[in-house]
Amino acid sequence: MAVTAHAKLDARKLRADFPIFEHDIRGKPLAYLDSAVSAHKPRQVLDKLRNFYETSYANVHRGVYTLSEVATAEYEGARDKIARFINAPASRELIFTHGATESINLVAYAWGLDNLGPGDVVVVTELEHHSNFVPWQYIAKRTGATFKAIPLDDHGELQLDALGEIEQAGNVKVVANNLVSNALGTINPIEKLSAWAHERGAIMVVDAAQAAPHHAIDVQELGCDFLAFSSHKMCGPTSVGALWGRAELLEAMSPFNLGGHMIRSVKLEETTWGQIPFKFEAGTQPIAEAVGFGAAVDYLTDIGIGAIEEHERELLVYALEKLAEVPGLTAYGPAPERRAGIVSFNLDGVHPHDVAQILDMDGVAIRAGHHCCQPLMAKLGVAATNRASFYLYTIPEEIDRLADGLQKAHKLLA
Ligand SMILES: Cc1ncc(COP(=O)(O)O)c(C=O)c1O
Repeated sequence: MAVTAHAKLDARKLRADFPIFEHDIRGKPLAYLDSAVSAHKPRQVLDKLRNFYETSYANVHRGVYTLSEVATAEYEGARDKIARFINAPASRELIFTHGATESINLVAYAWGLDNLGPGDVVVVTELEHHSNFVPWQYIAKRTGATFKAIPLDDHGELQLDALGEIEQAGNVKVVANNLVSNALGTINPIEKLSAWAHERGAIMVVDAAQAAPHHAIDVQELGCDFLAFSSHKMCGPTSVGALWGRAELLEAMSPFNLGGHMIRSVKLEETTWGQIPFKFEAGTQPIAEAVGFGAAVDYLTDIGIGAIEEHERELLVYALEKLAEVPGLTAYGPAPERRAGIVSFNLDGVHPHDVAQILDMDGVAIRAGHHCCQPLMAKLGVAATNRASFYLYTIPEEIDRLADGLQKAHKLLA
């Protein structure tokens, strides 16, 4: 994507959009450093949800009455916005799902069950979230395909020189990789992997759950075939997400969920499927949530994804400096220019849950656990890590409070 100049964002000003910051936690201002798991919601999104329910709500694509037409226009308008946000060639290639996990399961089941078999190879990486690992492992097992993972080097980067050995295992049919790692923040070389996959006749599936909130996405430049992401990590509502797929692949695929609205005709003998995207949107969709997702995309677009990414990188550099001053702290992941605003670390001799609890006493919220990345934890040789993650509303003082809390945890527990 072309590098464009953008106005720097003002995180202090943006915080005023987020009502959550008006509430203290344990009598202290909230320092929310867990946006990678889910982001907070600005008034612009909350107001849109309330307004939609109060003035425009009805089921979509079903009624001929005015209210249903208004609701349908809002729902389809959200689809158009979200499709534009990732530079999809056509809005009908954008399917609403309940989130990135469901989007990936849709591809693994609907494409995988019909296209994989013995002799085929499914390639993931050691850096995947379980949502882009387990569905592929399971479908590979069910179809008799071989399951392989690209290993990581010591800096948390994919070892692409292992691809030669991986392709010896059979016909590579799928490569599935995240664009940004939720555990280490690594930005992965999707364009290279897409090209490698396509040279072998394979499809490229991108998990963009961590990329979409923080990093400009252009599916045409990435050269991928499918891309999955979730609204709730992008300041939007929960329970809605999207799958983008190339029209010709989606059209050739069997449906995933079956039921109302996804059909063309139903007879005793046979049912035929509707057109995309509706073929993949069975039953009543998360309608208001999709409209709220559209409002979140407007909010992020107005600020500018480039400005958000730059802000997070500045915070990341600052955080790495501050964390380096904490005795006994090991930080994981690549150099700042190769990653998003995520820092995973461990304090020597202190369980990550204890660290997170000590920080919580001061109103600082960070994650502790395996981050749904057990293969990565095994590679790092740890059961869990702490993770701090930043977003457009994060300010440096919150990182100071994180560092102070870590100093305290070290003194108390190490
Ligand atoms: C990289 C990555 N992929 C997939 C997911 C799953 O997203 P969701 O729980 O919204 O389906 C997450 C969530 O943390 C993630 O970080």
